[in-house]
Amino acid sequence: RLGLYHLLSSAPRGGGQSSIGARNLSGEGYHGHVFWDTEIFALPMLAMTDAVAARSCYLYRHRTLAAARRRATNLGYSGALYAWESTDTGEDRTPSSARLPDGSTVQILTGDQEHHISADIPYALMRYWSATGDDTFMREYGAAMLIECARFWASRVTPNAERYEILRVIGPDEFHTGVRNDAYTNALARFTLEAASTVVAGFSRGDGIGGGVLDDWVAPDAREIEEWSRVAEGLVRSTFTEDTVVEQFDGYAQLEIVDIEPYRRAGVPIDIAIGAERTQRSQAIKQADVLMSAALLPERWTEEALRTNFAYYEPRTAHTSSLSPPTHALVAAWLRDGGRCLEYLRETAAIDIADAYKGAASGVHVAAMGGLWQALVFGLIGLKFSSEAIGLDPFLPEGLGSIAARFHWRGRRVKVRITAPAECSVEVDGEPCRVRVNRVERTVQHEQVATFRFSPAMTYWSAADPDRSGHGNNR
Ligand code: IFM
Repeated sequence: RLGLYHLLSSAPRGGGQSSIGARNLSGEGYHGHVFWDTEIFALPMLAMTDAVAARSCYLYRHRTLAAARRRATNLGYSGALYAWESTDTGEDRTPSSARLPDGSTVQILTGDQEHHISADIPYALMRYWSATGDDTFMREYGAAMLIECARFWASRVTPNAERYEILRVIGPDEFHTGVRNDAYTNALARFTLEAASTVVAGFSRGDGIGGGVLDDWVAPDAREIEEWSRVAEGLVRSTFTEDTVVEQFDGYAQLEIVDIEPYRRAGVPIDIAIGAERTQRSQAIKQADVLMSAALLPERWTEEALRTNFAYYEPRTAHTSSLSPPTHALVAAWLRDGGRCLEYLRETAAIDIADAYKGAASGVHVAAMGGLWQALVFGLIGLKFSSEAIGLDPFLPEGLGSIAARFHWRGRRVKVRITAPAECSVEVDGEPCRVRVNRVERTVQHEQVATFRFSPAMTYWSAADPDRSGHGNNR
């Protein structure tokens, strides 16, 4: 409830003058700068409960598109590279260094190298579109942002034989700088290239986006669209010898293994304890990176691969970013690991209410709050984005009696409650709609309360699940 309060009260409602800062307006941490926290962590909840506020945040990204285009041009790329730390003008205001508590100075490279923001924004736009069906927004604002970000990625890659690589980059795991083929960045860049093609195809068919034409300056030609699909297809997707483990970046598996547990228990960030340089040479990870890409794109994963990667990366993750525990809670829910899921949910909830990260005085952690909502709604209630139906795959870890959530879906208000041991009720206010719980699908009428039984297994993992191939407009 604390998270809902902060998320809802921080949401701007206007024509895109501002967005939500990483600490919203509750403190001076990060000077109000807007990060990927907004699109990937805060906005899914707003897109599904307060679309006006979410739209206003996307309008902010549209208003700052010109700055993102200038940034890409200045760095020798095409399209739009959004600011890592964005302000009212959209200029990048990431500081180049910071002072540590011991008085020493560290260089900050995220402004130069953390480019996944230009894939996070397209991803969130596609989710907003899928949840709201807001074709007008996609036609008038979203499409230009998607296309310009796809152009950026097509110019950002380096060809290597038949493949394309992304060099000198920082992924969500900011402990490792200047890496080659970060798994998260590559996966989301590919998503952006594919999503832009989907949106452009919608224009040329005149459906899906409700007709309309793209402005000349942004409309891609056939050759460019072909290039996007070549790059998307050829982008390196690393795996290493254990086969189903996705290597976080090239060479990661060869780095030193450090036991991060004693530092976690002592509450000392590992990069402070062993120093930034040794951390960079080790397998210690700041926050979910490979698992983050699975949390956003589960349709590209199998249950077995997710389990193997969770088991591999979890003990290597220091969670020194507040974005990490909610992502682990979400993935643990999908893996039906109730104990871990509850542990990470509690850890996330404690971030501000118990000041677990010792930083609440400089503002609450908006991303963790949005991540907590996602872990409950996408993780435990198991809501999937699908254009055809509301797909649910609920899971109640032992110790939880029930969970209820309200959200909007394509113009309807929906209330879901899951109750131990296995009951799920769905109430719809608005047009009748298809609701699927595990494999059972029914039409739920206006003001009807439909009850379903749910099974503990996640049917989503079966290849035949309709949400896996559809995934709303996200494909
Ligand atoms: O965006 C995050 C980043 O992922 C980790 N450091 C803090 C930023 C703002 O919350």
